[in-house]
Amino acid sequence: MAASPIFSDILIIGGGAAGLSLALRLADTARIVTLAKGELHEGSTYYAQGGISAVLDAGDSIESHVQDTLIAGADLCHADTVRFTVEHARAAIEWLSAQGTPFTRESNAEGGAEYHLHREGGHSHRRIVHAADATGRAIQTTLEQRARRHPNITLNEQCSAIDLITGRKLGLGGNRCLGAYVLNRHTGQVEVCAARFVVLATGGASRVYLYSSNPDGSTGDGIAMAWRAGCRVANMEFIQFHPTCLYHPQAKNFLISEAVRGEGGTLLLPDGSRFMQHFDSRLELAPRDIVARAIDHEMKRLGAECVYLDISHKPADFIRAHFPNIYAKCLEYGFDMTRQPIPVVPAAHYTCGGVMTDRAARTDLEGLYAIGEVAFTGLHGANRMASNSLLECLVFAAAAADDIRSRLEHAPEPPPLPDWDESRVTDSDEEVVVSHNWAELRQFMWDYVGIVRTDKRLQRAQHRVDLLLREIGEYYGNFRIGGNLIELRNLAQVADLIIRCALARRESRGLHYTLDYPKANESTPGRDTVLVPGNFAGAEAPPFWET
Ligand code: FAD
Ligand code: SIN
Repeated sequence: MAASPIFSDILIIGGGAAGLSLALRLADTARIVTLAKGELHEGSTYYAQGGISAVLDAGDSIESHVQDTLIAGADLCHADTVRFTVEHARAAIEWLSAQGTPFTRESNAEGGAEYHLHREGGHSHRRIVHAADATGRAIQTTLEQRARRHPNITLNEQCSAIDLITGRKLGLGGNRCLGAYVLNRHTGQVEVCAARFVVLATGGASRVYLYSSNPDGSTGDGIAMAWRAGCRVANMEFIQFHPTCLYHPQAKNFLISEAVRGEGGTLLLPDGSRFMQHFDSRLELAPRDIVARAIDHEMKRLGAECVYLDISHKPADFIRAHFPNIYAKCLEYGFDMTRQPIPVVPAAHYTCGGVMTDRAARTDLEGLYAIGEVAFTGLHGANRMASNSLLECLVFAAAAADDIRSRLEHAPEPPPLPDWDESRVTDSDEEVVVSHNWAELRQFMWDYVGIVRTDKRLQRAQHRVDLLLREIGEYYGNFRIGGNLIELRNLAQVADLIIRCALARRESRGLHYTLDYPKANESTPGRDTVLVPGNFAGAEAPPFWET
């Protein structure tokens, strides 16, 4: 028997920094349902370490934060979006503080307490507000506690959105987003969630790569769902590889924050010599694309399994006080960072591209918004600057909240929506196919669509993803849906979008580096790679696109 439909004013798919802050901002005016496909804290937000960038120091300036972001973004950021975001950073930090986020503070000359500010790559000032080295945990826990207490917020964990429901799909005319089909992992049933507004806050897609700093759920679900529903997607070639993840067979995906380099950590080759001076005058604090590529280059040149990050020249007390979690985690794996260098390697970390949105976080589909890592706002250009991501989550959640609030009164109630049709599917006895496909996808994305690319490697990846998409399509059409299949289908879709964007960009810029076109094409600065789906939902054609 089909489950009864779930109605709300606002359906927020995702319960990380973006989704929860939006829920809290709107909860006094609307009934909200927030979905998370696992436990609420299992998104990237919980694992964020370094912090949030904001101009709070008297010696710093908005102009400087804007310029640093534009430089890191390699001439591809949308300058107006950058300014908008940076100008709203202080308010975002104050809002988070008012929610109770325990940011690290230090005493000032007047005996008061100010935010302690870290420095990270690409930033010309100390401007990273943080909660020791576990900023994400502090934010997630604070927002989660508040959301759990709010009577207007229903938190549905273990609920995976499968696909968006649109007026066009139902043949109703118009192209409004009306809700989503959602697999309730507790009951195994597919529920219909209908809402006046739907918000994607599903995070990024870095788990499309074999090695990633991200938790398992970063499978690009929101990007794939929006694409299938007719939304444009942009700049997917710009996948950020974080330079320093702990290299240890059991550590899986543990990040060593850039703040360690910000506090004086140096990168070393296996013979103990420094190498960043051969790549950039900013040394270890060059933007991430440059540092990750330098490490990749040195590892390949030497056939080394990793490089090393060394901060042991700093006093042990300083290290333990600033990086208590990183220190403890490294110790668990046998590395005492107060005495010895830590082995590190780059890993896929952040999706700079995503679902195209405007300044109010609106997508091409009426009633559908996208906020946080799932979205492409134009802020990050060809390379996100450290700690600008949580900032984007908060600033665009606030912008979406304002826009939704202003439209709520006149927004239509969704019509009755059809149940999920399971009449033609059976239970699969070949679950193993899903995990094999998953492993294959991640391996070839790492091998062929990684830090250094070529047309040939990309074409190889394209052939494989085409095949996988066909197989997954058949599987999806014939067998009952499960959590792994939902994620695999989305990962393959997102891999396809990444490869198509990468093939379309015939130059090297920021995070996209190809041996076939090793230089930036100076005649096309500011040109995004915009993919337009066959069932494009927008009323007008976009100004330009490349596929
Ligand atoms: P997430 O926090 O990833 O949340 C996604 C949510 O969507 C989850 O609740 C998930 O369950 C849900 N979801 C996904 N798909 C579905 C579906 N199909 N159905 C239902 N729910 C779904 N950025 C910074 O600015 N500063 C940092 O210091 C920093 N450090 C980082 C350290 C690590 C290890 C990592 C991985 C990232 C870091 N980042 C940092 C990046 C930043 O943490 C993320 O970009 C940001 O947290 C994304 O927040 P979000 O709300 O968009 O998504
Ligand atoms: C880090 O702490 O190095 C991660 C910061 C970020 O991804 O912005």
